[in-house]
Amino acid sequence: MMNNCKAIQISENIFWVGAVDWSLRNFHGYETSRGSSYNAYLIVDEKIALIDTAKIEFKDELLARISSVIEPARIDVIVSSHVEPDHSGALKEVAALAPHAEIITTNPNGLKGLTARYGNLNYKAVKAGDEISLGKRTLKFVPTPMLHWPDSMVTYCPEEKILFSNDAFGEHLATSLRFDDENDLEIILHEAKKYYANILMPFGKQAQTALKALGGLELKMIATGHGVIWRTHIDKILECYKKWSAGEVEERAVVAFDSMWHSTEILARTITEAFARRGIPAAFYDIKKTPLSDIVTDIFTSKYLAVGSPTINNQMMPTVAAFLCYLKGLRPVNHKAFAFGSYGWGGQSVGYVEDELKAAGFEIILDKIRVANLPTAAQLQDITEKILALNL
Ligand code: FEO
Repeated sequence: MMNNCKAIQISENIFWVGAVDWSLRNFHGYETSRGSSYNAYLIVDEKIALIDTAKIEFKDELLARISSVIEPARIDVIVSSHVEPDHSGALKEVAALAPHAEIITTNPNGLKGLTARYGNLNYKAVKAGDEISLGKRTLKFVPTPMLHWPDSMVTYCPEEKILFSNDAFGEHLATSLRFDDENDLEIILHEAKKYYANILMPFGKQAQTALKALGGLELKMIATGHGVIWRTHIDKILECYKKWSAGEVEERAVVAFDSMWHSTEILARTITEAFARRGIPAAFYDIKKTPLSDIVTDIFTSKYLAVGSPTINNQMMPTVAAFLCYLKGLRPVNHKAFAFGSYGWGGQSVGYVEDELKAAGFEIILDKIRVANLPTAAQLQDITEKILALNL
């Protein structure tokens, strides 16, 4: 596809040459309501380096931006920070146009992953502390395993004080403005939190290890793999990552439920109101109406969670089961929870919800709340009193 895409200079002879995915609305079940970008960077020195590529669908956009600066055949080094195809998807096509380029990747996981996907290319495996000279500039490689794949790596250019961080510190956000200070900070930070919650939450320890490894670096820019480049609010995003990776939670509650004939919904409203009466802000989510990725973003920093489901066919509702499956995979820490729900007969769902919450590592702070048919005023009062009496 022909296009008129041009590179955007982010520092002298360093260019953003990535692609903006304006229409992306789903990334493996993560609802990306503001789209995304696949950021790649071109460093023009005595040697020319390309940091990452893009999703294969965006190879023309990537190549057009590169070609607006140099002939792709002049690329000497391609750094593959991460095998996942949103960053490596166009690697084979770029390598075909730059036949003498070395492809830098981690050993052994980057090497294995790239070979499995793209066959034998001109790979050069690196380990922690390895560096290459481009002439005036150096690239130092810092593997960040399981942040969030085994092969993940960041690259630091000390002369420019730029960290090319790939997935870390990024967010799914489509914007034509490349820098943090050109965009709405509240939106960026919300999307960065959503990104962390949905992708990095299981890897808090690895994130802390990476933060330690990056601790001594002077940073003028963090050039991420998605969303904006941090240059003005670097301290803010680092502070957020410290807090998020430590699993810090706030005195807030999330009430998430599905309902068939409003009985479980009435319980959810009562629970939300009871938390609020204790001075604990509570968010109310009907699971069938809210993307799971938004609910888990809120759960991530809320200390309390109540999950409700009516019983259907002797089970919890499939929407609630999917929500709990997603939540369990993200391995949240430092949360307290309880289960609730209504039923016509049987009423097994609430026990199953509680079992799943325990399996996900939640501390259960209130015995399961089960109500047959429609809750009475006395039952709602009893639930309120139990929540008000909780020793939190
Ligand atoms: Fe943005 Fe893990 O890829």
